[in-house]
Amino acid sequence: MTIAEVLQLADRLVFEGTGKHLDDLQQVVIQGVWQGKSYSQIGEECHRSESRVRDVGYRLWQILSEQLGEDINKNNFRSTIERLFINSSFINLFNHKNHHHIFNFCSPISEQPQQQPDIENKVDSISCYEDLGIAPKINLFYGRNEELKIIYDWIFLQKARLISVLGLSGIGKTTLVKRFVDLNSKSFDVLMWKSLKFPQPLNLLLTEIFKDFSLGNDSVNLNEETWRKFFNILRQKKCLIVLDDVQNIFTEKQFAGKYQSEYRDYKTFLKMMTEIEHQSCLILVSQEKSQEMKSLNEELYPIKVLELTGLYETELLKNQGLENPESWSTLIKLYEGNPLYLQNIADLIKDVFQGDVLSFVEQDELILTEDLKDIFNSLFDKLSNVEQKIIVEMTQQNQ
Ligand SMILES: Nc1ncnc2c1ncn2[C@@H]1O[C@H](COP(=O)(O)OP(=O)(O)OP(=O)(O)O)[C@@H](O)[C@H]1O
Ligand SMILES: [Mg+2]
Repeated sequence: MTIAEVLQLADRLVFEGTGKHLDDLQQVVIQGVWQGKSYSQIGEECHRSESRVRDVGYRLWQILSEQLGEDINKNNFRSTIERLFINSSFINLFNHKNHHHIFNFCSPISEQPQQQPDIENKVDSISCYEDLGIAPKINLFYGRNEELKIIYDWIFLQKARLISVLGLSGIGKTTLVKRFVDLNSKSFDVLMWKSLKFPQPLNLLLTEIFKDFSLGNDSVNLNEETWRKFFNILRQKKCLIVLDDVQNIFTEKQFAGKYQSEYRDYKTFLKMMTEIEHQSCLILVSQEKSQEMKSLNEELYPIKVLELTGLYETELLKNQGLENPESWSTLIKLYEGNPLYLQNIADLIKDVFQGDVLSFVEQDELILTEDLKDIFNSLFDKLSNVEQKIIVEMTQQNQ
């Protein structure tokens, strides 16, 4: 934290508590204490008596304690501010009463024009930015109108800041979200599609994002400075960031939603996305749900979860060289409306049954292609021991 930021923060807090901005002496006291000086040293430097400086300090700690709900004194002032501000980032302070506006770093207080970050100008110069990374191109899209409308309402009407789209592999999560992006791209200043198909630690992901914004090529550290820059962007621009394949940062062989140790920062990140005020939205696309994706109180937190179920649209099977359209809906039910499974099965029916869907469904058993077996095996491998046992047990019940 720069001293200008500390003064700015203190000024906002004192203003909230007393209706007055910091005066010169108060500023000098805060600056001196922040730099570890004694009251007598500060007094000497500004030609005031030590007792006068001590009185000013005493009153300041009273006001700050009240505003922050923590006991603040000369000795713990710096460490408390750093703890509240840096370690748990902005979260504690943003939780505290109505301090959403404290960290509007872009409007420097008049007394401290120096050392203000030039981020504001840079962010302003980002007019429209689109990087769809490795997002798939959607050629065919059926149904899901209800889901598209839900996401639209969440983002534009309810101002959700974190949306998770969850569901089984192949159910159509990526396709749905990409379709939403295609339909609504004009409504965002910034569009970013990041994939965790090959997962990377959060600081590398942020480094990429900063590079995209031309905010420097150096690799970033996850410190207060970085988060400030990041949330400044999200505040000033309406950004939509999609993070696909989020399940890859969770631990296999454990119950859902446990972060692998090198990806734990994502947990903090998700929390910050919802707790800090801004006008942007992060959409997570994942097969697994984590604690941060759920909201205990939907009224209070701008968090939404959309769990995708099967797609029961017979159009899915059109133009695939299949016959007997009257049995298509039976086939779709058999594979629980999973478009990926259905594509696989359609190929099999074409090859082995010459496209005769009726004879296939009359087999009256669940036939799996090698590709589907691979998918199920890899899903099964990721389950915890208990979950695997339950599944094995269930297969023996013959129900
Ligand atoms: N609404 C849809 N209309 C047409 N095809 C769809 C639709 N949804 C999904 N599909 C097709 O189903 C396949 C799987 O969809 P998608 O990749 O979106 O699944 P996913 O849920 O993201 O799976 P994973 O978790 O494995 O990434 C894709 O080939 C896609 O083209
Ligand atoms: Mg996907």
